[in-house]
Amino acid sequence: MQIIVLGRETALCLAEAEAYFGNVKKITPQIAEIDTDKPQDINKLGGAIKLANLNYSDLSSINDVQLKIEEILQGLNTSTKLNFGLSYYGDGNINLSALGIKIKKSLKKLGIKPRLVLPNSTSQLNAASIKHNKLTTGGAELLIIKTGSKYMLATSYGFQDIDSYSKRDYDKPCRDRKVGMLPPKLSQIMINLTKPDAKTMIVDPFVGSGGVLIEAALMGYSCEGSDISQAMTDCANNNIEWFKENFDNLGDIEVTKPQDAILRQYPNTSYSIATEGFLGSNFLSKPTIHLVKEQLPELKKLYLDFFENLRNQTNKPNRICVCMPFWLFPDTTIELKIIDDICQLGYTNCEFTSVRQSTLSYRREGQFTGRQINVFETK
Ligand SMILES: C[S@@+](CC[C@H](N)C(=O)[O-])C[C@H]1O[C@@H](n2cnc3c(N)ncnc32)[C@H](O)[C@@H]1O
Repeated sequence: MQIIVLGRETALCLAEAEAYFGNVKKITPQIAEIDTDKPQDINKLGGAIKLANLNYSDLSSINDVQLKIEEILQGLNTSTKLNFGLSYYGDGNINLSALGIKIKKSLKKLGIKPRLVLPNSTSQLNAASIKHNKLTTGGAELLIIKTGSKYMLATSYGFQDIDSYSKRDYDKPCRDRKVGMLPPKLSQIMINLTKPDAKTMIVDPFVGSGGVLIEAALMGYSCEGSDISQAMTDCANNNIEWFKENFDNLGDIEVTKPQDAILRQYPNTSYSIATEGFLGSNFLSKPTIHLVKEQLPELKKLYLDFFENLRNQTNKPNRICVCMPFWLFPDTTIELKIIDDICQLGYTNCEFTSVRQSTLSYRREGQFTGRQINVFETK
């Protein structure tokens, strides 16, 4: 059994884990359990902050937690020096410092030279501090998880590479704020929501600056993108060149000549679509409800025509994960409300057991336009 510490958008992160692992159990709002012993590559899971091996699932007191941590640390194959960190996930707080000092004392009696690493202001160590304090190479981070009156104990082994995500987010040579850029983590989540296998090609027909393709290639998939605008296909190509120079690119990437997503022909191989569709006008200041509503008919038509075109392809996509816009006003939210129309065209809106599909959404902090994330299969 393993533990995933979920990212900020917990519903999306859970849905990703369910799509990726087949089964996932939510333990606390931040923690999920997955039924696998195989080590996983966290760099392919946009919604995971940490991955950990579950050591114990029903310890009944903090004393038991202490004894088990001591056992785990004694069993580590390190020299006499040992760095260990503690993180707590659960309601309220526990005194991590007092617990850590007791563990240190016990280990010292055994001739081990322990060094305790504690979180600064929160109860959880972050990836930077785990790396800086060499917890993965010369020791361990123990996650103490409170569930009801019981404690779980897990040893972390994978941490989100924040620097790499932010490099891919902010350092690309072509960034176009007017078009809106999908965060790399969300691109990965969307790709995983399409449940691709090794041979699935990932297609983004509203490619914009090419972020989805970059993530798909990094995850090992071959991928192809197109956009109606020549400026955007140029932008995507610039970014892909930069990406190839800066990262180990695993999958093949192609950006086609400019094409309309509602008219184009899609590949003949097995493919899935992961895309952030057109989000409508990019309002410089917050628009009136009227201005937002004015663009709804055109946007609805674009998405319905897009799905109709896909339905008419001889080779249909396996799954389609698409972001569609919504707009947040203080008293109301405006949505396209076209899920039923899409289903009437011959699609199923995929449901999840761990979360409700209708709760999957994303909004960058401070942004007025949000994205609803929907997954469909052809009936
Ligand atoms: C929200 S942006 C995609 C942004 C992209 N995910 C990124 O991270 O840069 C939507 C893109 O759809 C393109 N677009 C709009 N209408 C289109 C159509 N009918 N066919 C293809 N692309 C279209 C726009 O040019 C724009 O680049």
